[in-house]
Amino acid sequence: MHSDQTRPQIRPLIARRPAGPITGRISVPGDKSISHRALMFGALAVGETRITGLLEGEDVLRTAAAMRALGAEVVNHGGGRWSVAGRGIGGLTEPADVLDMGNSGTAARLLCGILASHPIFSVLTGDASLRGRPMRRVTDPLSATGARFTSREGGRLPLAIEGAEDAMPLEYRLPVASAQVKSAILLAGLNARGITRVEEPEATRDHSENMLRHFGAQVAVETVGEGRIIHLTGQPELRGADVDVPGDVSSAAFPLAAALLVPGSRLRIDGVGLNPLRAGLLLCLQEMGADIVVENRRTEGGEPVGDLVVAHGALRAIDVPPGRAPSMIDEYPILAVLASCGNGATRMRGLKELRVKESDRLSATAALLTVNGVRVEIEGDDLIVHGTGGPPAGGGHVATHMDHRIAMSALVLGQATAAPVSVDDSAFIDTSFTGFVGLMTGIGAVLDPA
Ligand code: S3P
Repeated sequence: MHSDQTRPQIRPLIARRPAGPITGRISVPGDKSISHRALMFGALAVGETRITGLLEGEDVLRTAAAMRALGAEVVNHGGGRWSVAGRGIGGLTEPADVLDMGNSGTAARLLCGILASHPIFSVLTGDASLRGRPMRRVTDPLSATGARFTSREGGRLPLAIEGAEDAMPLEYRLPVASAQVKSAILLAGLNARGITRVEEPEATRDHSENMLRHFGAQVAVETVGEGRIIHLTGQPELRGADVDVPGDVSSAAFPLAAALLVPGSRLRIDGVGLNPLRAGLLLCLQEMGADIVVENRRTEGGEPVGDLVVAHGALRAIDVPPGRAPSMIDEYPILAVLASCGNGATRMRGLKELRVKESDRLSATAALLTVNGVRVEIEGDDLIVHGTGGPPAGGGHVATHMDHRIAMSALVLGQATAAPVSVDDSAFIDTSFTGFVGLMTGIGAVLDPA
């Protein structure tokens, strides 16, 4: 793990079009959202939580370290098997030092929720990317629990938290479609007396609701139009549980995209989480005419899972409605890359939230394509990508802005372009996709140190 001062060397990479196809049978690292939650909920439960398939990326390791610093016993048994001996609801203890959440917005925002209803003092910080991201979206509503938050100007980290002694349950309607904000409110509600009510006008990923139930909490979900109302009963007895983490669909998207783009490719990706509130990319790819088959659909640990079989083929332009954004919010950079190699203009609507990710992902995605010879427009919150109908020119050097998904998207683009694509830094890929370079080169991609 690294803070800004000790972060490893910058790792520039060059991606080149391979001579042969992308082929093989792979699985991708565990789902990041589920991995964070398994560690956090395990720390709040009584008894042992056993986790298999945990993502051991930087972001999740930050959460593991934070839960340890807050008094939980978190043990790495090797090979993705971890266990957590929890402290029970309200049982976390004051950390002796600042909690450094690295690059992870999910870790920082969900922890704000947990810490709001623990009567302890803590300070959160992160790397330069995370210190630039908005935290008021959680601290404003969480203040109504009785917790006190003191931050840098603009609500940015570092952030000091004095948790509430006797937290009030919240009733909150989300102003933005954000699973992180929803989860922060629900997590604060775990140690509040009474019912916490969250209303989301658009449904967002529901891993918190699913896993809280799995740990024994009472969570009622009502569907209202496109949205949901969630009621959580406070102060449940959370019991440690077994969690099998499925492969991360947001990570699977990168090898999958490489196979779609490189002629002759055929790739199988086993055990990918297919929660419908996460799988919007697959819907888009179907509309684009991609050859993707889902086999072996099953439920593992309460989440739908399947194996994806994908083959190369031409892609056509689509119009992606804004309502789809919550189910594929992390997949727009790679969808934009795919659209750039297809025919016609693809319009992706309602991408405002992309501006506050690990980077301003709307601008970073547009820039990554522009420097590689693709015509792109940003109109309000929409991104329009003009497909080149064949391999884009490439030859660009991409600024990744401490953003793992921008780095991986650029490196996949380079598998299709006429000239190589380079990135200024691939080190941040370790936050979400451990072993990315080895996995990609193992299936035929060409990635070389610059
Ligand atoms: C996440 C929610 C999303 C997503 C992030 C993970 C989560 O963020 O972009 O990578 O695990 O809840 P927002 O809730 O801010 O959209």
